[in-house]
Amino acid sequence: LSTYVFESAEDLARHVARIVAGVISERNALGQNAVLGLPTGSTPTGVYRELIRLHREEGLDFSGVITFNLDEYYGLAPDAFQSYHQWMNENFFRHVNIPAENIHIPRGDVSPAEIDNYCRDYESAIERAGGLDIVILGIGRNGHIGFNEPFSSRNSRTRLCTLDPVTRRAAASDFFGEWNVPTQAITMGLGTIFEARKILLLALGEHKAGIIKELTEGSVTPRVPASYLQEHTDATVLVDTAAACKLT
Ligand code: F6R
Repeated sequence: LSTYVFESAEDLARHVARIVAGVISERNALGQNAVLGLPTGSTPTGVYRELIRLHREEGLDFSGVITFNLDEYYGLAPDAFQSYHQWMNENFFRHVNIPAENIHIPRGDVSPAEIDNYCRDYESAIERAGGLDIVILGIGRNGHIGFNEPFSSRNSRTRLCTLDPVTRRAAASDFFGEWNVPTQAITMGLGTIFEARKILLLALGEHKAGIIKELTEGSVTPRVPASYLQEHTDATVLVDTAAACKLT
């Protein structure tokens, strides 16, 4: 698991966007689809901004790109104000030329009876697309990736999961109070994520320094789901100096 430290969030975003653009251009040149796994949250906003800039100013073509988002709150319809569907549209999709039918985000309004089938279909769609070329991840302070909270199974697939109190607290300001934050979510599983050919985990800010130290210098443990990335053949950790401040 190699770690790279950047002077600023902007430098990190430019670097990550260049890697993603490289994967897209390579696939475009072969007439193939690039398949991306995408996160929401405060960490990747700069990456999306830079990818939008590459599209507008340097002609990066997203018409062959297929995307799968990592997660969505359970109980929120796609048009709900705090849904990740809305977030992705605002911050990325409406600014680039990814065909609507190539965009996949778990729906938070699937009925309990349909959830298992729905999650299986999400997995099949990833498989049909040829698997994930590259997944971008943020990390929770508790070590979650996607919404795979501590002690999630190493082999877990896309499923309905329960949010950790730490995660709900972190989302409180988006929902005007912790009590309004959904208690469940649909997330891509750890097993699903680890099948990606390339994984980039991003972290910004001092509040992530503790978990970044555990992730990169600690051992592999179910308590820190992201630590399984140490066993992946092409996973990279990219952080700013603040998130790196506890590294030895
Ligand atoms: C969101 C996701 C989460 C976030 C993590 C960090 O789609 O998958 O794992 O990446 O909670 O969130 P931020 O970036 O807001 O600190």
